[in-house]
This record gives sequence, structure tokens and C-alpha cells, in this order.
Amino acid sequence: MRLFVNVDHVATVREARRTVEPDPVQAAVLAEASGADGITVHLREDRRHIQDHDLERLLEVAAGGVNLEVAAEEAVLAIAERLRPAQVTLVPEKREEITTEGGLDLGHSSRERVRSAVRRLRSAGIRTSLFVDPDPEVIEACAELEADAVELHTGEYSNAGDSERPAQLSRLASSAELAAELGLSVHAGHGLTYDNVGPVAGIEVCEELNIGHSIISRAVFVGMARAVEEMRFAVDAGRAAP
Ligand code: PXP
Repeated sequence: MRLFVNVDHVATVREARRTVEPDPVQAAVLAEASGADGITVHLREDRRHIQDHDLERLLEVAAGGVNLEVAAEEAVLAIAERLRPAQVTLVPEKREEITTEGGLDLGHSSRERVRSAVRRLRSAGIRTSLFVDPDPEVIEACAELEADAVELHTGEYSNAGDSERPAQLSRLASSAELAAELGLSVHAGHGLTYDNVGPVAGIEVCEELNIGHSIISRAVFVGMARAVEEMRFAVDAGRAAP
């Protein structure tokens, strides 16, 4: 199970003062040295956290590869084509949102935009993942779009109370199975924490987790290296659980 650490919120703290620290690229180096398999960043249209120069530096130092999250929009797709990260995850983006709120809309009107983004990325030799809700119709649409992977949105699972969580987990597990049957690689992320990551890590066909906020929050108190090591341990323990 690959653990990709999202370092956006290191940049969020830096941008609170528009200064040079803390450096998300330094956080990425520490994360990889502490058990992360790769680094995820979201280059948002409003550049509220990660900046173009962060991405450029990150691509030089991240040994395990960069998973770049972007919207299916011309300006950021052109950056992805130029910089060629190992993987691009297409995400929905709204200016007023605090974080990515739901999966991609693959209904008829927006599907063609996503299709052309997948084609562009594919011709640039970039592996493409689609961030989507764990919904069978949406997973089928991802296969039809010929994406390489889906990232299942774990937000509803993460926000669910104790009584609702098993149902949300089985929704994730059955969507993951369907995606794998359709030939898509399966990733998951959003809202995962040290406490709730285990059962998601235990979904056998799931190959990659993208986790940010919980790790960066813990790093404030224990340091980046220990925060990543603890998440690595939680993921591996969830994977090994019977
Ligand atoms: N995956 C995607 C597609 C995201 O947009 C985000 C948030 O940037 C994450 C994973 C990580 O979510 P969190 O910060 O809640 O761990």
C-alpha cells in the first residue's frame, strides 16, 4: 500500500504570512525519509497554498514521484503537460470551498471536459487518476473515460458517525472492487486520520492512499518525521489486520 503525503497545509501556514517558511518541499523530503512513498500537492487556481515554484522544486527532489492534483482547466493542465509529474489526479474545484468537497462531476455536460483532459495528460505520458465519489455509475464512467486510476473520496466515510461508518466502508469496498474489475487502479483519500485509516487500508484492491491534513496537524506537535512514521504504521497495521 503506497502512502502519498499531501504537503499542501505546510504551504497554507507559509501563505498565512506570505513568507518563505515553513517550506512544503522540506516537509516532502522529511516525509519521504520517514516512510512516505511519494508526495501529493494540489495546485489550486487561486494558489492559496502550493505555488508554481513549489511544484517545480518538488519535482526535482521527490524520489517517489509527485501526484499533482488539478482541476480539468486549461491553465493548470498546461502546467502539468510542461512539468510532467508522475501522476495527475483530476479534482473538482470551487473558489469558495475550504477543501475539495465532492468527487468529480461526470454527468453529460462535464464529462467531455474530463475526457479531453485525460486525453491530453495521456498523450503527455502522465498517468491519470480521477477523484470520484464511491458510486458504481461514476466508477463505470471513469473506465469509459480510459483513466488509469480512480481515487475514491473517503470524506463521507471519514465524517460518518459510529453507526453509519460500516455502511460507508462497504460502499468504498464495493466501489473499489468494481473499479479493479474494470481495470482501474484504486486509490483513496480525503479526511483520513490515524484513527479511521485502518479499515480503508484493509481494502485489498486499494493501492494508494493520499493523506494530508491529519499528518500535518500531528506534525505541529511531534514533528514531520514522527507524524509520517506514525501514519505509515497505522496504514501498515490496517493492511495487515485480518
Ligand atoms: N485526495 C484529494 C483528491 C484531495 O483533494 C485531498 C485534499 O487536498 C486529499 C486527498 C487529502 O485530504 P486530507 O488533507 O483530508 O487528508
